[in-house]
Amino acid sequence: MRPKVLILNGPNLNLLGTREPEVYGRTTLAEIEAACHSRAANFGLEVDFRQSNHEGELVDWIQQARGECAALILNAAAYTHTSVAILDALSAFSGPIIEVHLSNIFRREGFRHHSFVSTVAHGVVCGFGSFGYELALEAAARLISAAREN
Ligand code: DQA
Repeated sequence: MRPKVLILNGPNLNLLGTREPEVYGRTTLAEIEAACHSRAANFGLEVDFRQSNHEGELVDWIQQARGECAALILNAAAYTHTSVAILDALSAFSGPIIEVHLSNIFRREGFRHHSFVSTVAHGVVCGFGSFGYELALEAAARLISAAREN
């Protein structure tokens, strides 16, 4: 069985492609999902790709990943900067967590500079647009195989 990576996307990311394209690009979430599936196959990984506008649903999915998924890739979108509930759920997940943002949040408004997710993430990929998801998958693949060798 291929190790499974859960890729979660938070609020408003369903609008990618048409939402502030000058900030987030023109690639749709469906296109990002397709790219993730094909990259994951190269790395021998299975991907479960989801999006929700609801904090509690994201918390539920993070909880369900316990014991089921080898790694978690998360673009929590605006909840990145606000959600202690997501942070607490992530803290109960034992595999590697990779935080992703399409935009470079550190070049933007001050309120985007703090991330609750970063406090428990193995690493952060931000500012590379949709390509960031592929970079995160490569990082996840390496972390999963390193964990298996130990
Ligand atoms: C984002 C950055 C967040 O600050 C913002 O609220 C988003 C998207 C990004 O991918 O660049 O919705 O996570």
